[in-house]
Amino acid sequence: MKITGETKIVGILGYPVAHSLSPLMHNAAFAALGLNWAYIPLPVEPERVEKVTPALRTFNFMGANVTVPHKQAIMRYMDEIDPVAREIGAVNTIAVRDGRMLGFNTDADGFLQSLLETGFSPRGARCLVLGAGGAARAVVFSLAKAGARAISIFNRTVERAAFLVDDISSVYADIRFSCELLSPQTLDAANNSFDLVVNTTSLGMFPQVDASPWDDGIPLPEAVICDLVYTPIQTKFLQQAASQGLPTVDGTGMLIYQGAKAFEIWTGEPAPVAVLRQTLLSVLKTGKQFSD
Ligand SMILES: NC(=O)c1ccc[n+]([C@@H]2O[C@H](COP(=O)([O-])OP(=O)(O)OC[C@H]3O[C@@H](n4cnc5c(N)ncnc54)[C@H](OP(=O)(O)O)[C@@H]3O)[C@@H](O)[C@H]2O)c1
Repeated sequence: MKITGETKIVGILGYPVAHSLSPLMHNAAFAALGLNWAYIPLPVEPERVEKVTPALRTFNFMGANVTVPHKQAIMRYMDEIDPVAREIGAVNTIAVRDGRMLGFNTDADGFLQSLLETGFSPRGARCLVLGAGGAARAVVFSLAKAGARAISIFNRTVERAAFLVDDISSVYADIRFSCELLSPQTLDAANNSFDLVVNTTSLGMFPQVDASPWDDGIPLPEAVICDLVYTPIQTKFLQQAASQGLPTVDGTGMLIYQGAKAFEIWTGEPAPVAVLRQTLLSVLKTGKQFSD
């Protein structure tokens, strides 16, 4: 990559961001399309988040991705927020246009695209979402928007799941929502009443690779089993599913497609998805620790 006086700059705002894979993916994509753009890490401590938008404006950034812990805090500094990001309550992509800060959420679309490419459509499906954190919000809203019939949320802190159900049921009144404590008893009772199960907890993520949200000895429902965790790609949860012969979807697709959508928002060009995928997989295969 050659940085020149005309290079357009984007980056990733988060804390920490040193392990982010997004700079590698986006810089490979810019190079593949011959675009004079560069993507850099932008570590911002939580107490400095209000300084972000003046800085992006001052330095003529084209935009940025936003990751933990800023996805919600950044919203109040946007001039405009896309309806999807507003519904979810989080911004993961900023576009700077004529000095105005436009906020988007590409996680929900990224997740949906990763399911659709495996041939699974959430339309009419009964879905079980494990976890109720930031990623769960994007997953639940994308399933609802895609026409799921029923969505249950199981979380260690059941109040957080109840809060999410409250938020979403006011927008999607026709869908059946419920929440439960994530426990061996509720998992056991879940048996065959779901078509899709999604792990959005961080259980199973490197270095705790022997952890899973699903207790050993409890059979998984006859459903498509999806894990958002992608370090490692084959999590313990996905191995449990594979040992029961169930179809699985790993977390790499969501990471690739949320990045592709952000790339398209910034550049106006279709993202080279194959380049994003190849870059991501080649790094993940090294087994080092990374984050989104
Ligand atoms: N593939 C992708 O593109 C993508 C995108 C975003 C996130 N992710 C992955 O998704 C995971 C969650 O991210 P997030 O941003 O949603 O994090 P978060 O907001 O911190 O939420 C973490 C979730 O995990 C649960 N949890 C954590 N430790 C647990 C434990 N020991 N036992 C039971 N539940 C536990 C939390 O439950 P409590 O509410 O009880 O604390 C909460 O539901 C991470 O592994 C992240 O890398 C992947």
